[in-house]
Amino acid sequence: MPWYEIPVKYMSIRSRVQLLNIEGRSFCLVFNDDKWVAFSKSCPHAGAPLVDGWCEDGQIVCPFHRHSFDLKTGRGKLGQHNYIKIYPTKIEADRCLVYFGSSLWSRLFSK
Ligand code: FES
Repeated sequence: MPWYEIPVKYMSIRSRVQLLNIEGRSFCLVFNDDKWVAFSKSCPHAGAPLVDGWCEDGQIVCPFHRHSFDLKTGRGKLGQHNYIKIYPTKIEADRCLVYFGSSLWSRLFSK
């Protein structure tokens, strides 16, 4: 599965979490600590939309019950016992790309 380009219109918004849909995948995007971070759109605790959350000390904070997740690893704070998915991003030729990984199905049947 390839890397997908994030449309440039999203790259100008650095002050808040955004909800994107690319190739049928919905995810959140935020600029934090000089990097673009792509992550799960829903909180694993009770499904709150993380697009309404905010960043604090390298964490995304859920707006419902304040669970927080590390924006590098996706791990919830100690005691939460949950995590969010972090999708790799990279900058290439002034374009920001996101990678969703490959499904078991595509790994089994490619080539
Ligand atoms: S739904 Fe996110 S902390 Fe409860």
